[in-house]
Amino acid sequence: MIGKLNHVAIVVPDLDAATLSYKETLGAKVTPPADLPEHGVTTVFIELPNTKIELLHPLGTNSPIAKFLEKHPDGGMHHLCYEVEDIVAARDKLLAEGARVLGDGEPKIGAHGKPVLFLHPKDFCGTLVELEQT
Ligand code: CO
Repeated sequence: MIGKLNHVAIVVPDLDAATLSYKETLGAKVTPPADLPEHGVTTVFIELPNTKIELLHPLGTNSPIAKFLEKHPDGGMHHLCYEVEDIVAARDKLLAEGARVLGDGEPKIGAHGKPVLFLHPKDFCGTLVELEQT
């Protein structure tokens, strides 16, 4: 059911420093920062030949990743995003298999303007999983 790894997301305490280390130290192609107020994050994407890295930094007072940064002050891996062809069909299969879909279970528009869902980390090896319809 899942297809390509769309991105790996990393929460960072300093977005400029993280962007610079990917751009200069690692020599990667980076996008300009984008504020996503409805998600409470600012993102920078690192574009690799086979996938992307999403740098996440809290935006606003109610950011869903603020707690993550409290627990992991140096930052850390936050989620993996896999592509699916049909997100509603994927959700229904996951629910039927007993997996937990976070939130109200309805796909939301994610960082790339495409429908996304998040799956409970306890169901997937302690890793938060994002599904994105491509
Ligand atoms: Co993501």
